[in-house]
Amino acid sequence: MFCRKSEKIPPFHVMEVLERAIELERAGKNIIHLEIGEPDFPTAPHICEAALNALKGGETKYTHSLGLPELREAVAEYYNRKFRLEINPGQVVITSGTSPALLLLFMGLLDPGDEVVMSNPYYACYPNFVEYLGGKPVFAYTHEEEGFGMEPEAVSGAMTSISKAILINSPCNPTGHVMSPETMKGIAEIAGTVPIISDEIYQGLIYKGKDHSVLEYTDNAFVLNGFSKLYAMTGWRLGYLIAPAEYMRPLQKLQQNFFICANSFVQHAGIAALRGPQEHVKEMVATYDMRRRYILKRLSDIGFGIKSEPEGAYYVLANAREFGSDSLLLGRRILEEAGVAVTPGIDFGDGAQGYIRFSYASSLENIKEGLDRIEKHLNN
Ligand SMILES: Cc1ncc(COP(=O)(O)O)c(C=O)c1O
Repeated sequence: MFCRKSEKIPPFHVMEVLERAIELERAGKNIIHLEIGEPDFPTAPHICEAALNALKGGETKYTHSLGLPELREAVAEYYNRKFRLEINPGQVVITSGTSPALLLLFMGLLDPGDEVVMSNPYYACYPNFVEYLGGKPVFAYTHEEEGFGMEPEAVSGAMTSISKAILINSPCNPTGHVMSPETMKGIAEIAGTVPIISDEIYQGLIYKGKDHSVLEYTDNAFVLNGFSKLYAMTGWRLGYLIAPAEYMRPLQKLQQNFFICANSFVQHAGIAALRGPQEHVKEMVATYDMRRRYILKRLSDIGFGIKSEPEGAYYVLANAREFGSDSLLLGRRILEEAGVAVTPGIDFGDGAQGYIRFSYASSLENIKEGLDRIEKHLNN
């Protein structure tokens, strides 16, 4: 028998939807995928080339546990240039994706019973990380009417004397909400001595205004980021954590023990991604934006509720109550009967029950076909 806490962990529903969709495809059904949060673009050739060259050059050994110095420098450089900061490469830990960075950080941060304030709807895995490590997620609910923005007042209302951290995520999965600089600043002020954990994995995927990092407003913060989304590198497994200097030694010891280091040749690809040409990123962003505008219009026309435009990441969390209050059942119906895989809102917390998340990390042609099928199915 596995331990009780592993028995308790819920499935990541989007993966279950994907796995069921694959089963249907193997049985000969054609399925349109609007569920998965994975760029449909290939990784840029110069990034692949860097990994191949590293492999050919024998870069197949362990690296320093905190990562290749050159990649840590490239990460610091990237943040410093983009947000006018003064991060030292010594504050960067390279990890095998943002997920291991989250695990590493929560392993270091949480004592049993410690509370972590987070939004609801949330990225499905956040509460599971926290609970698995003995902590307790506490929710600051966000609402469709405010475009799912996490308000400083809601954060303040969720904080207690045992709050260990405030977790924010902008641009947000699953809502596509982009936090304003005022709100980031407001949350940083309310946080006081409680550190902010800022998951910035969708940074750069923004369609209006300017990107921001929490580090512009406070030094008392941990930033998580990675290469999966912006550089279309999900399968490479590469991410990083930026931490205040005093936490680096304990993080290093955890990394040495539990992960040793991130993949060596993949780290070389990371350097090429950050320091190489960025035109391919601009093109991807422009394409996502075109799809975003299309999907928003179509969803509204079909009868889904969208009170305010999502301006980042590549998701729309649409109110589907018109078609059913149980998002799990509705999602299942849309998959089995209409042949379109979508993510039930309930995957992202009770605050998203009655909603369906649509991902537009899929070609316009697919999105159109998927929405045609859904429209036809719901009209029947
Ligand atoms: C908000 C958020 N954080 C973290 C991750 C995990 O990313 P990675 O592929 O870097 O582990 C995802 C993936 O979907 C995500 O949406």
